[in-house]
Formats: sequence, structure tokens, C-alpha cells
Amino acid sequence: MAETDQALPLSDQLAAMNLTDTVEKHAFSDRVLIRSIVGRPDGGAGLAGQRVRAGGWVKTGREQGKGTFAFLELNDGSCPASLQVIVDAGLAVLSKLVATGTCVVVDGILKVPPEGTRQKIELRVEKVVSVGEVDPAKYPIPKTKLTLEFLRDHLHLRARTNTIAAIARIRNALAFATHSFFQEHNFLYVHTPILTTSDCEGAGEMFQVTTLISESEKLEKELIKNPPPSEVDIEAARQVVSERGEAVKQLKAAKASKSEITASVAELNKAKENLSKLEERSKLKPGIPKKDGKIDYTQDFFARQAFLTVSGQLQVETYACAVSNVYTFGPTFRAEHSHTSRHLAEFWMVEPEITFADLQDDMNCAEAYVKYMCNWLLDRCLDDMLFMAKSYDKGCIDRLRMVASIPFVRISYTEAVELLEEAVRGGKKFENEVKWGIDLASEHERYLTEVKFQKPVIVYNYPKGIKAFYMRLNDDLKTVAAMDVLVPKVGELIGGSQREERYEVIRERILEVGLPLEPYEWYLDLRRYGTVKHCGFGLGFERMILFATGIENIRDVIPFPRYPGRADL
Ligand code: 4AD
Ligand code: MG
Repeated sequence: MAETDQALPLSDQLAAMNLTDTVEKHAFSDRVLIRSIVGRPDGGAGLAGQRVRAGGWVKTGREQGKGTFAFLELNDGSCPASLQVIVDAGLAVLSKLVATGTCVVVDGILKVPPEGTRQKIELRVEKVVSVGEVDPAKYPIPKTKLTLEFLRDHLHLRARTNTIAAIARIRNALAFATHSFFQEHNFLYVHTPILTTSDCEGAGEMFQVTTLISESEKLEKELIKNPPPSEVDIEAARQVVSERGEAVKQLKAAKASKSEITASVAELNKAKENLSKLEERSKLKPGIPKKDGKIDYTQDFFARQAFLTVSGQLQVETYACAVSNVYTFGPTFRAEHSHTSRHLAEFWMVEPEITFADLQDDMNCAEAYVKYMCNWLLDRCLDDMLFMAKSYDKGCIDRLRMVASIPFVRISYTEAVELLEEAVRGGKKFENEVKWGIDLASEHERYLTEVKFQKPVIVYNYPKGIKAFYMRLNDDLKTVAAMDVLVPKVGELIGGSQREERYEVIRERILEVGLPLEPYEWYLDLRRYGTVKHCGFGLGFERMILFATGIENIRDVIPFPRYPGRADL
């Protein structure tokens, strides 16, 4: 170190030492990401002396020194931390910068703040490039602590809050982790349809997709404006056709010239066209088209009934039975009237399908995938996880570590019921009765994973009566090769199974559960031709986020929640 440096304050010495560090401009905009400054291990100290342009929204701002300068906490969403920005009064009207929510773009020089301050770096502004003002009296989400429930009424602005932004980054990280996990294991990403004509779960919880209603409304309006022809109008048009027909006949009989006959035939055709148009229009009736008293779906958009998918599984199986391991990851829709904190009408599901694999492989894959996501968050999202731990759930980081490192408990459904019965005998009260054959309720699932084992539990081999037709029948003929992964905080995170690959058996099962065969013929073809042992599962993506963050309500971990009575934006 040069001798002269020793006279400088420590902050300037540090700044002088690190001048070689540079911060990169964002590739597609003229500013640097705030994360590339404050997200560094040294908190940005090593960048002192650099000139940068930064942009973001003011988290908190205050005028200081009798209005001679202002402090702004500027956040651009690239990380939880904000950049402290100092603006002198000569550069802008300070009162217009300090309101929470104001958007500010500034050029300045990074400096190490005086000792004793929390920040490792701050930006001394040289120029205010632009300002998107906020009227604090009207801004719907001011700085005060807002409840998540309140924020649900302001979906378009709630991503400006620390919590919703942190959840967005965690969600993004989990999506990246998902693709990374399956790509690393050689699964092919397949896009399954959102519009479908088959009900995967056979549970009849599908949203119908139809244009019949809007078409009929359109027609109703049109018919009022332009009423259909009356019987008299049609009779008159018929009359014209017969007159023109007669005229053609007479010309032909009189051996008139070719051009005269051609002209007359053209007149006749015009009259016929007019008649058929009128006849067609006279058939138009307001209301939904019906046939034999039932809605006539042959007149609907797809010429048959169609729905929003509840799962991409059946379709993804067609690829699994051709190119082996695959996965789909997309939105799914369920019209269940559940008002719980674990259900959405629109949620995202990750559905791998593993070929040449059985229920054991399925459980191994599910466990490895969940562990991979936990590790991913610990490695790449620790700053956001620390925020969640501080603000919502003290134990969330320990939970991720625990789940990433310990083997999941695996018990059969029968064993699970025995454990629950034992708990009841010991005085535990459940709202739903426990006995072999019931579908485990959320309270049962959470007892097993939160109280009994305090770790993830995989329950397998469920009674066939409570599970979907496509699950493989076990040799006991009473249970199917299904498995659910239950985790603390959430209950059921994953539902999966080995698929029934035997043609005769699955055909019987479809009939047994009372479904028609015809719509599943293509699915049966997968068993008719080149059938193969395979399995898969579906992970509820929002439930994974609940589990990771400790957020209580699923409506807060999806950007635009849809549930009974609400579909904002
Ligand atoms: O158990 P489910 O219904 O399984 C299936 O749909 C299978 N076809 C999956 C497969 O084998 N490919 O749903 C899978 C997961 C559940 O475990 C749960 O985490 C989540 O999807 N889920 C919901 N998440 C939010 N809101 C809802 N209404 C949900 N319904 C299911
Ligand atoms: Mg399930």
C-alpha cells in the first residue's frame, strides 16, 4: 500500500484497493442490476469508485439535512436487498423522489459509506435521469405493513412488496430447478394440451370450454337487429324461383339464342340462392342449440364437448410410451369448490412419466426431485429464504436442510391407517373417522408427517376404490400401486402411481369405475400396442412453494390466484 494511503479513512482505502472490480451493465437495458452491486459477497464494497446507472422503485425515502439531500432505498427486484441512493437537492425536487413506489433512474458514483452504517456501498447521485412519480395520498400500497389478504385485492401492485417479490424469485428458482433436475436425468419436456376432451382424474371437476354461449348471445342480438324472414318472405322467394324456372323453360322451348338462355339461367340461380339463404336464416333460433332435448355439442367449436385439463398425464403417457422418460409442466384447472388454503382453481403441476419403471422407481424419483429443489433453494436463493425465515416461518431453512438430507419415511396405506387408529386410541381427535378404505383427509396426512414422523412420508398402495382408474392393480386385487408424498406444512405435495399396463385389466377398471370406453380407446391403444411398465407423479407446484416458504395460503404463492368467486385481472 502506498504511504499516502495510510492517511485516508478506511473506507477510501478500501475503495482505492478494489478499483479494478467492475460491475457489468445489463445486457438489454442501459442500467446495472442492483443485485450485481449489493448481491456480491462484499456487499458491493469492492465496486467503490465506479460510475453506474441504476433504476428501481423507492422502498423508503426521506429528506435529510433540512432538505439539502435525500436518502432513497432503491429496489429493482433483482434481489431482496435495496441500494442506498443519496441525492442532493440541486439535482431534483426531493419531495418528488421520496414517496414509496416512486420509480427512479439515476446516474452516480458508488461510494463506501461512513463507518457505522449498515450498507457496504451507496450510490452518490450525479444525475437524476427519470422519475415516475407517486402521489402518496393515493398509492394503494403504502409503506405500512400490509396483510397478504389485503394485497390479494391489489394483484397488479402486490409484486412491489418485499414478500411477493421474494416469492416470485423463489417460484422462478423452483421452476428452473425443475427443468434442471429432469433435464439432468434425461427426461424430455413435452407440452401437453390445456384444452382437452378427456377427464384424466375421472372426477368430473373440469371447467368446460365452449363457444355455444357467446355464439348464442351474438345470434340473439343479431336477430333482434335483423329479424329472420317470415313464412311470407320465403313463400315470395319461392314464387320468384318458380317464375324464373318457368321463364327458362319457355326460352328453351322457343329455341331462343344461347346468350338469352344463359342470362335467364343466371337469373334463376340467383333466385335459388336467395331462397336458400332465406330458408337458412329462418332456421336460426335464439338460445343454445339442442338435439333430442340435449345440448347439441356437434355445433360447438370443437364439434364435441371440451374442457380445461385437470392433468397432462394421459397425454404425456403417449410420449412416455414412445420416447421413454418425459415430463410436462404447465397449468391445470379444477372446478372444485374448495375454499381451503391448499386449493386453487388454476395451479401448476410438474408431471414426470418414467418408462421401464415401477412404483419403487417412482418414489425414488419423487424423493430425489424434492430433495434437489430443497438444495437448489439453499444454494441459490438463500437471501430470499432468510427473508422468509425472518418474516414468516422461523423454521423454513432448517426444514429445507432436513428434507434435503434425511430419507423419507415410506409406509403402506394399511400401515398409515393403523398408525392413525393407534393415535385415536391414544386420545387424538380427528374430524373425519379413520378406518381402512377412507381417503386420507388433510388432517390425517398432516398428523402423519408433522406429528408422528416430523418429516416427509410416502404412503403407498391405496385402496383401489378411492383412486383413479389408471393406477396399477396390486396382486391383492384390493389396492393399487399409488403413492402420495406428504410433507410438513402442506400435507399432500405429490400424487403418483405405477400405471396399469395390462390391457384387459385397465379395460375392466374403466368399466368398473363407470366411465365410458369410447373416449379412452386411444389410451387403451397404448396397452394394445407395445405396452410397457411405466409410472409417474404430479407435484403441485404451489404446494411446493408453500412448503419451502412457510407461507400459509396458496393464494399468495401464485401471481394471479383463481379460486371460487375470484379471478382478478
Ligand atoms: O393427486 P393429483 O390429483 O394427481 C394427478 O393429477 C395425477 N394425474 C398426477 C400424475 O400422476 N401425473 O394431483 C397432483 C398434485 C397433488 O398432490 C397436489 O399437490 C396438487 O397436484 N393439487 C393441487 N394444488 C393446488 N390446488 C388444487 N386444487 C390441487 N389439486 C391437486
Ligand atoms: Mg392426489
